[in-house]
Amino acid sequence: MSTTHEAGWAHAPGALRGPAWLSPPQDPNALVPLLWSSTAHKRDGDLVVGGVAVADLVAEHNTPAYVLDEDDFRARARAFRDGFAGYDVYYAAKAFISVAVARWVVEEGLHLDVCSNGELTVALRAEVDPARIEYHGNNKTHPELRRAVAVGVGRVVVDSFVEIERLAQISAELDTTQGVMIRVTPGVEAHTHEYIATAHEDQKFGFSITSGDALEAVRRVHDAPGLELLGLHCHIGSQIFDSSGFEIAAKRVLRLHARVADELGVTMPEMDLGGGFGIAYTTQDDPSDPARLASEMTAIVEHECRGLGIAVPRLSIEPGRAIVGPSVCTVYTVGTVKPVTLDGGAVRTYVSVDGGMSDNIRTALYDADYSCTIAARASQAPPVLARVVGKHCEAGDIVVRDEFLPGDIAPGDLLAVPGTGAYCRSMASNYNHALRPPVIAVRDGRARILVRRETEDDLLATDVGV
Ligand code: LLP
Repeated sequence: MSTTHEAGWAHAPGALRGPAWLSPPQDPNALVPLLWSSTAHKRDGDLVVGGVAVADLVAEHNTPAYVLDEDDFRARARAFRDGFAGYDVYYAAKAFISVAVARWVVEEGLHLDVCSNGELTVALRAEVDPARIEYHGNNKTHPELRRAVAVGVGRVVVDSFVEIERLAQISAELDTTQGVMIRVTPGVEAHTHEYIATAHEDQKFGFSITSGDALEAVRRVHDAPGLELLGLHCHIGSQIFDSSGFEIAAKRVLRLHARVADELGVTMPEMDLGGGFGIAYTTQDDPSDPARLASEMTAIVEHECRGLGIAVPRLSIEPGRAIVGPSVCTVYTVGTVKPVTLDGGAVRTYVSVDGGMSDNIRTALYDADYSCTIAARASQAPPVLARVVGKHCEAGDIVVRDEFLPGDIAPGDLLAVPGTGAYCRSMASNYNHALRPPVIAVRDGRARILVRRETEDDLLATDVGV
């Protein structure tokens, strides 16, 4: 490789240094534990997850594949349940859901947040008690709402005035009472990518607190027979590490909560502070553990409630990524390795794998960073700075923008990318008619398919020209 040098890669003429946060690994065969699920380790170069060697899994199931560490998922779910004791913890299905995962969520004592009819279908198929389901969305249709009310979801989070009307009409028609939370925008700019920040004013979600819409929504829900006003809901965004955003949001929402008590004489029993807890995709990220998050958030809320002279409402949160994100790695097979000489003579090594933006759109969509490792052999070759790309017809089809991989990386090697449990399979597409990969759970040395690989018949099933 042209970037290797006897004194190390960085001394080679024209070597690319990569981003400042990324340094060449001391041991290119070792895993960085923070980035991997808890059972993942290397055994003589073989990546082992849930007691299963990834190479064996691939021999049976092929690549690409999402490998889900069941014990890790369950442990993270329990860590939120126990860390946030006294809260209701809703797992956000949008991060990833399947029938088996919905069952694990309930078995570990969590509730479920769904934001579409499809997610509700999976939850019901898994026989999740509808009372434990919270239903989200900024544009729920009349039939969707009717189904949610008819099956008895515990909470509908309303997001617009027209939805309040629809919901009131439906609960009257069905002669029932529907629990309602009101999504409000506290006007906080979360420090995250613009597309995943959700509580500033100029976006589609929620009722603005500052404009007075939020208070008006509270009035309308309160006045509607058949709707039971349970509380306010806010979600400030995703992949957030800094509790200052939560603090400002909680203060503003609690002030509204207190104002409702003053002006309408109604004490809302609950408040939902949303999800958004960040995970480590690379060594740049330093997430908190759930118990610490809980004590910080509780302290903020209790302090504010004392100041306002109100009782602390029952709190809930909705983590998605922080539970499933680190539990999954995606395994690919390397197809080509192409050193590309850049202006100035530096060489970037493009490593193409058999998936890409169809199974992980996050790099292209949010500039997300990931890491990766070779998964089925050890290598002593000096590392090269590589870019892992997919097989789609698009230059932005990047999986891992920058990573040091062994300089002898070659076609046929397996590559594993950790941290792909959230918003990868759930946002996967059939771009270029790719077949979406399976999700395979591993535990105690056994592998179990949760979602099978798509087939060409699946692709053609909706093509009525066939
Ligand atoms: N609750 C609400 C109301 C939400 O909108 C979301 C995420 C969550 C909870 C869960 O957030 P989490 O804890 O997973 O961050 N596709 C983007 C993330 C979009 C998040 C949408 N809402 C990504 O890949 O980063």
